[in-house]
Amino acid sequence: MTAGAISALAYASDAVSGAAPALLAVRQLRLSDFRNYRQLRLDCGLEPVVLVGANGAGKTNLLEALSFLAPGRGLRRARLDEVCHRPRSAGNDDAPATSWAVAATLDTPDGRVAIGTGLEPARNEGGLPRRVVRIDGRTAPSQTALGRHVAAVWLTPQLDRLFLDGASERRRFLDRLVTALHPEHAGDVAAYENALRQRARLLGEGNRDPHWFTALEDTMARHGVALAAARADTVQRLDAAARLGVGPFPRASLAMAGEVDGWLATMAALDAEDRLRGELAASRLRDADAGTTS
Ligand SMILES: Nc1ncnc2c1ncn2[C@@H]1O[C@H](COP(=O)(O)OP(=O)(O)OP(=O)(O)O)[C@@H](O)[C@H]1O
Ligand SMILES: [Mg+2]
Repeated sequence: MTAGAISALAYASDAVSGAAPALLAVRQLRLSDFRNYRQLRLDCGLEPVVLVGANGAGKTNLLEALSFLAPGRGLRRARLDEVCHRPRSAGNDDAPATSWAVAATLDTPDGRVAIGTGLEPARNEGGLPRRVVRIDGRTAPSQTALGRHVAAVWLTPQLDRLFLDGASERRRFLDRLVTALHPEHAGDVAAYENALRQRARLLGEGNRDPHWFTALEDTMARHGVALAAARADTVQRLDAAARLGVGPFPRASLAMAGEVDGWLATMAALDAEDRLRGELAASRLRDADAGTTS
């Protein structure tokens, strides 16, 4: 999690609304059985924090712990059980942990909030360990609740793939920024992609049942237009901030280029949904032949 990225987002909304910049500060971080940390408690002030230590000391592990305070799989995209503390040399009373926890006290524009998340051991025999999220001591139904409190963006060396890989990786990165401002965005993306996959499977199977397609295309149209609108809003805010320039760097101008994105600039969202429904229905045969969603 980079404080710079967080303040860039706060800055973006500031540039649009003229309100005071929204800042987020981690005041306390506690870890249990998280990677190389058996127990850790870190108290922080409001100043930026720099982590210094030898290779393998656990600096990136700390950042990874912070990254779990936002929805998703964290900055290493690790399996949740990989994160459990494993002792260096296993002895009898030193068995690998089967759960881990990250707890943080944050100062946010809406006040102080306590967030806890981690992997909880199975409740009963044969059950599976599961990820839990607690906000101010109350268990949240899903990770989406985290998005209402924490907007986290990270830049790691592995992200250079953004420049090498295709547009879908770049959209995924943008969607993380968007979710920071629009917590419901992640749900729209998941619903859209799910319907898109189901439609592609029906086309691949040669199914021509219009009722199935109409239902799936309706889901795609509603969530597709909602997610395009959220992306447009985020990119507009970033654009407003980027135009102000940062130090000696050239000013950037940002815009979304895409079919639905273009419609939204000229028509109401409901009209864009109708148009997307119509175009999806009209492209079934072409998509079945091409094996893709045009
Ligand atoms: N599940 C785990 N249990 C215990 N230790 C772990 C676990 N996963 C990773 N580690 C240990 O964490 C250490 C790596 O920590 P981390 O990547 O945070 O180091 P770093 O301080 O960022 O180092 P560098 O300066 O090289 O980037 C390694 O020693 C590794 O053995
Ligand atoms: Mg590191």
